[in-house]
Amino acid sequence: MTDPVGLGGLESTEVGSSALTDVRGTEGKLFYRGYEADELSRTRGWEETALLLWEGELPDSARREELRSRLERRRALLEPAAESVRSIPASATPMEALRSGLSLLGQGWDYPPTEEQYETILAFPPVFLSALQRHRQGKEPLRNEPPGLAQAAAYLWRLTGREPSEAARRALEAYLVLVADHGMNASTFVARCVLSTWSDAASAVSAAVGSLKGPLHGGAPSLVADFFDEVPSPERAGEFVDARLARGERLMGFGHRVYRGEDPRARRLHEIAREVADPRRLAVAEAVEREGLRALRERHPERPWGLNVEFYASLVMEGAGLPRELFPPTFALARTAGWVANLREQESRNQLVRPRVRYVGPAPRPVPPPAD
Ligand code: COA
Repeated sequence: MTDPVGLGGLESTEVGSSALTDVRGTEGKLFYRGYEADELSRTRGWEETALLLWEGELPDSARREELRSRLERRRALLEPAAESVRSIPASATPMEALRSGLSLLGQGWDYPPTEEQYETILAFPPVFLSALQRHRQGKEPLRNEPPGLAQAAAYLWRLTGREPSEAARRALEAYLVLVADHGMNASTFVARCVLSTWSDAASAVSAAVGSLKGPLHGGAPSLVADFFDEVPSPERAGEFVDARLARGERLMGFGHRVYRGEDPRARRLHEIAREVADPRRLAVAEAVEREGLRALRERHPERPWGLNVEFYASLVMEGAGLPRELFPPTFALARTAGWVANLREQESRNQLVRPRVRYVGPAPRPVPPPAD
């Protein structure tokens, strides 16, 4: 019998070492450079988290302000590039559009990436995604962002032209911090593989967006919200959960490859959702959580079940006022911090990533003569 083909999930394969993010699956903890992400999300912003990931230490206020203002300037410079939203077909999802936008942005970029290119990757998503959303609503993109905004607030402003409420801004900021990086997940691995070939940073990050798009990785938060729509009341959550599983479908927002129980980001996002989510949606979500865990434990008692980051992320993004179609690319916007950190680390000691695969096909054989 021949061996089954496929790469498998590489669960127990360590592909190298990294000094960035420590994902402790058994303990249910996540640390960036030694600081717990949960704690950072309470007191620090996304720009500070990005600097922590890149430089290894939390920045002082001058360094944080320097990055904030550089990104602010860069967002203004990128406004013409965001005009590319006009050429994107209406049928493309925002995640597909972002993947294409990043790819266009990087024309002429080379290896090794420059500081300016890394900064451009960070500043591009809020400008591009807001322009895309407004274009699809028949509106012009907004320019002349009020001075002094950090990335989270600038993104919300660019979508609506209004300064976000403090609650919305804080919720989004905390979400961006919580998902800024996460070990050797699929999109990060993809990004590092691309850069390892001496390709450019835009190619690496557009490939990463393509990877994040899949519902087993980052495409789930809007699907979680769709499921909450289907459940008419908390009392009926069990019935809808069971029906979904009976159809052989997965429950989005449940399960994780690394965490052997609950994802620590899910706990923190639940806390934030309690502050910003619509109370009826929150009640449905909490009932889906209860019933989902019950149903999954019944079906797979051997597996340690818990929520993952996507479950309450959907309510947090909803509460921050983001439209559902922007949930997955907002994840990408946050993750640019981690992708860039990983590309910098890759670049610091680059070697072509080129694993081997065991060949299990036919043994060498002669080509038969043509039939006629
Ligand atoms: N709902 C229903 N069944 C699930 C499930 C879920 N959320 N997650 C895993 N399973 C089942 C699989 O169907 C499989 O069952 P089988 O052995 O009978 O075929 C078994 O559990 C193992 O699945 P596998 O994909 O190998 O587990 P994993 O630990 O590698 O998966 C995820 C991790 C995140 C991909 C998985 O839990 C999942 O698909 N979750 C839903 C999507 C999601 O929330 N994505 C966001 C991730 S952050």
